[in-house]
Amino acid sequence: MNAAADGTRQATQETSDRREGFRAQLESWQARMESALAARLPGPEVVPSRLHEAMRYSVLGGGKRIRPALLFAAARAIGKSEEEVEGAACAIELIHVYSLVHDDLPAMDDDDLRRGRPTVHKAYDEATGVLVGDALQTLAFQVLTRDPALPASPATRLRLVELLAEASGSFGMAGGQAIDLAAQGQRLNLAQLEEMHSRKTGALIRVSVMMAAACASSLDSRVQDALAGFAAPIGLAFQIQDDLLDVLGDVTTLGKATGADSERAKPTYPAIIGIEASQEWARRLHAQALDSLAPLGSRADLLRALADWLLARHY
Ligand code: IPE
Ligand code: IPE
Ligand code: MG
Ligand code: MG
Ligand code: MG
Repeated sequence: MNAAADGTRQATQETSDRREGFRAQLESWQARMESALAARLPGPEVVPSRLHEAMRYSVLGGGKRIRPALLFAAARAIGKSEEEVEGAACAIELIHVYSLVHDDLPAMDDDDLRRGRPTVHKAYDEATGVLVGDALQTLAFQVLTRDPALPASPATRLRLVELLAEASGSFGMAGGQAIDLAAQGQRLNLAQLEEMHSRKTGALIRVSVMMAAACASSLDSRVQDALAGFAAPIGLAFQIQDDLLDVLGDVTTLGKATGADSERAKPTYPAIIGIEASQEWARRLHAQALDSLAPLGSRADLLRALADWLLARHY
C-alpha cells in the first residue's frame, strides 16, 4: 500500500473509532438531559395540569439532544464540567422543543408525527400546542436566570440570556421560520437558502457552542474564534442533513414524516442542488468545521466526534 492510501485508510479508521466511542458518550448525555429537564419542568399535577402535562410530553422521552451535546462537548474543550453548564443545556433544549412544537402546528408544517409520537397539537389540541411553545420559551430564560449551578455572576447570566434570545428571535430561529414559510413554492438561490437554514436551524446550533464559551470567565480570543468557526458550518450542515433525511430517511428511524418538504414545496438543498451535491456540501462543511478546531488540539476531541456522528446520522 502506498503512503497516501495508507494515510487515507488510517484517517477513515480514526473517524470510525471516534464515532463508535462517541455513541456511549452521547447516550450518557441524553440520560443526563432526561433527568435534568424532568427536574426543571413543573410536575403534571401542578395547575394548570393539562398544560404542564403537555409540556412534559413534548420535552421528555425523545430527541437526540444534539444542542445540549454540543454545549457539553464545547464545555469540555474549555475545561468546564457538565454540572456547570447543565442549566444552559436545558435552556437551549427547551427553546428547541418549543420551536418543534410550533413548527409542527397546522399553521406551519402541519405534521402529525414527532419523535415517534403524535405531535403536541394531535395528542392535545392546537391551543395547547401554542401555549406549550410559549411556556417552554419563557421557562428556558427562567432557567438561565435561576439555575444554581450556572456561573453565579449576573454578567455571565445576562450574556447567556442575550445570546439565547438573539438566536431564538427574528434574527435567528423565528426569523428563519418566517423565511421558510414565505419561501414555500418559491425558488430560492443558494445564498437565500443558506441564509434561511443558517437562521432557522444554524442559529440555535451555533449558540449551543457559544453559550458554553460564555460560561468561561475569560477565554482566549483564539479559542473563541475556533469554536465560532466550528459552530457555523456545523449548524448549516445539520439542516442540510435534515433536508437529506426528509428524502432518504425512514419514518420509523426518524420518528417524523418523510417526503414532507417536497409535498409542501419547501426549498431545500436536495431540491435545489440535488442529493449528491448536498451530501458533498455537508461533507465540505464538516471538514471546514474540523479545520477550525485545530488550535484546540485534543481538548476538542468530543466536538470532533460529535461532528462525525452528525454527518453520519440516520435520525
Ligand atoms: C429537528 O431537529 C429540527 C431541525 C431544526 C432540523 P433535531 O433533528 O435536533 O430533532 P430532535 O431534537 O432530535 O427531535
Ligand atoms: C425546523 O426545520 C426548524 C425549526 C424547528 C426551527 P424543519 O421543518 O425542516 O424541521 P423538521 O424536519 O420538521 O424536524
Ligand atoms: Mg419547518
Ligand atoms: Mg417541520
Ligand atoms: Mg426538516
